Amino acid sequence: AKLLVLHGPNLNLLGTREPEVYGRTTLAEIDADLAARARAAGHDLESVQSNAEHVLVDRIQQARDDGTAFALVNPAAFTHTSVALRDALAAVALPFIEVHLSNPHAREPFRRTSYFSDLAVGVVAGFGAASYRLALDAALVRLAPVNT
Ligand code: DQA
Repeated sequence: AKLLVLHGPNLNLLGTREPEVYGRTTLAEIDADLAARARAAGHDLESVQSNAEHVLVDRIQQARDDGTAFALVNPAAFTHTSVALRDALAAVALPFIEVHLSNPHAREPFRRTSYFSDLAVGVVAGFGAASYRLALDAALVRLAPVNT
C-alpha cells in the first residue's frame, strides 16, 4: 500500500532543535528509517515536511486521488492551531495516526489541545524519534492485520 508521512513546521530542524525535548535524530534519518521499514514490509512510503499550512493541506487533498491508504501525521505546532489541516484530513477521509516526539500532555497547557486526536486512528507520543517507528508498526498492523 501507499503510506504518507506528514511533518509540520520546524521539524526540518530536528537534530539541533531543542535536543533535550526532541532528541538528536535528524528528520532525514527518521524518513530513511521509515521508508526502509515500509519497503521491507512490501509498502511504499513518502515523507513530506513543510512549514506552510497550505502545502500540507494541498498534499492531503492530493491523497484523495493518488491511492494513499494510510498516513502518519505529526502536525507539530499546527496540532494546537489548525482547523484547516484537520478539515483536510476529514474531507479526504484519510486514516492516520497522530505522532509526536514529545509527550504534549507533559508540557505547557496549550499543548494539551489537539485538533487531530479525535479524528486519528490512534496517537503515539513521547518516545522521541521512536514514536514514528512505533506508529509505522501500528499502521502495518492496521493494513495487514494477519497474525498480529
Ligand atoms: C510536536 C509537539 C508540538 O507541541 C510542537 O509544537 C512540535 C513538535 C512533537 O513532535 O513533539 O513542533 O508535535
